[in-house]
Amino acid sequence: MKGIILAGGNGTRLQPLTFVSSKQLAPVYDKPMIYYPLSMLMLAGIRDILIITRPTELPLFRALFGDGRQLGLRIDYAEQDEPRGIADAFRIGADHIRGEQCALVLGDNLFHGSNLPSLLRRTALKMGGCVLFGHEVADPHRFGVAEVDARGKLVSIEEKPSRPRSNLAIPGMYFFDAQVTDITKNLTPSPRGELEITDVLQAYLDREAAELVWLGRGVTWLDTGTHETLLEASTFVRDTQRRQGTRLGCVEEIAMYMGYIAPDDCHALGAEMSSSPYGQYVMERARSFSTGMPPTALSENL
Ligand code: TTP
Repeated sequence: MKGIILAGGNGTRLQPLTFVSSKQLAPVYDKPMIYYPLSMLMLAGIRDILIITRPTELPLFRALFGDGRQLGLRIDYAEQDEPRGIADAFRIGADHIRGEQCALVLGDNLFHGSNLPSLLRRTALKMGGCVLFGHEVADPHRFGVAEVDARGKLVSIEEKPSRPRSNLAIPGMYFFDAQVTDITKNLTPSPRGELEITDVLQAYLDREAAELVWLGRGVTWLDTGTHETLLEASTFVRDTQRRQGTRLGCVEEIAMYMGYIAPDDCHALGAEMSSSPYGQYVMERARSFSTGMPPTALSENL
C-alpha cells in the first residue's frame, strides 16, 4: 500500500505564522507537525510515501526527511502550486499510486490512542473500496460528517452541514483501493472551487464500497489549523508524554519498532540530536529495545 501526506494549503487561519513557512512544519511541542501524520502511515505498515507541499517549501521538507532511507522508508515529493482541494492529491499522486491501494493523511491531523496502531494495520490489511473513520465530536458542523443507520452502517456524508445528522466527524485519514485515481479524474470542482474529498467518498458510497470505522473514545484526534488548536495540540503532546514517559509521533522509534531500521541505526539517529531530550529519548528507546523491552509495551503507545 502507498501513502500520501497532503501538506500544502495556505494555512490562512494561522497567518502570519504561515507567510513564509508551512503549517505542517510548525512545532507541535517537540517536533514538526508532519511527524504525527507520518507516524500514522508508518504504523499502518506503509513505507512508500509521497509528500505533497507548496513549491516554495518543498526543499524544506526534503531537507527534513531526504529520501527517507534513514527511517527505512522511501519518501518522494510533489508540488501542489495552488490549494485545489484535498482530492487533488490523487491527481498529483497518480504516478505514485500506480494501481495500488493508498492511504491519504492530511499533514495537519494528529491522532493518538490505545489500539490505534493495530487498528490501522488491520484496516490496511483487510480493506477493499475505501475506509473512512468516524470520531465523535462536540461540534460536528465544522467537519465532514458521517450519517449512520441504526446498525452503525454509513448512509451519507455531508461537508460542514449547518444541521449535522450525527456527531461523527470524519478525520483527515482515509484508505482507498486503486480505483481512486479514476474516480478523481472525473471529479469537477465544487462551488467553492475545490476537488472535494467528500465527492470521492460519496462515489465509493454510491458503489456500496465505503466502510466507516469508528474510532473509539480511547482515540484522540486533534486538528491544528488555528492558533488555539495548535497550542492545544502542543499542550496535549507535552502532558501525555510527561505522564506516560513515552513520546508521541517519534518517527525514529516507530521505524525501529516496525522493523524498518535496526536498533543501532535508531540509536545513531538519536545521537545526532543528543543535546535535546528528544534525541536522548530516541537513544534510550534503542537501548531498551536491544535489551528486550516487550514489543506490546511499545506498540500501542507510539
Ligand atoms: P485546510 O485546513 O482546509 O486548509 P489550510 O491548511 O490551507 O488552512 P486555512 O483554512 O487556514 O487556509 O486543509 C487541511 C489540510 O489539507 C492541511 O494540511 C492542508 C491540506 N491541503 C492541501 O495540502 N491542499 C489543498 O488543496 C487543501 C484544500 C488542503
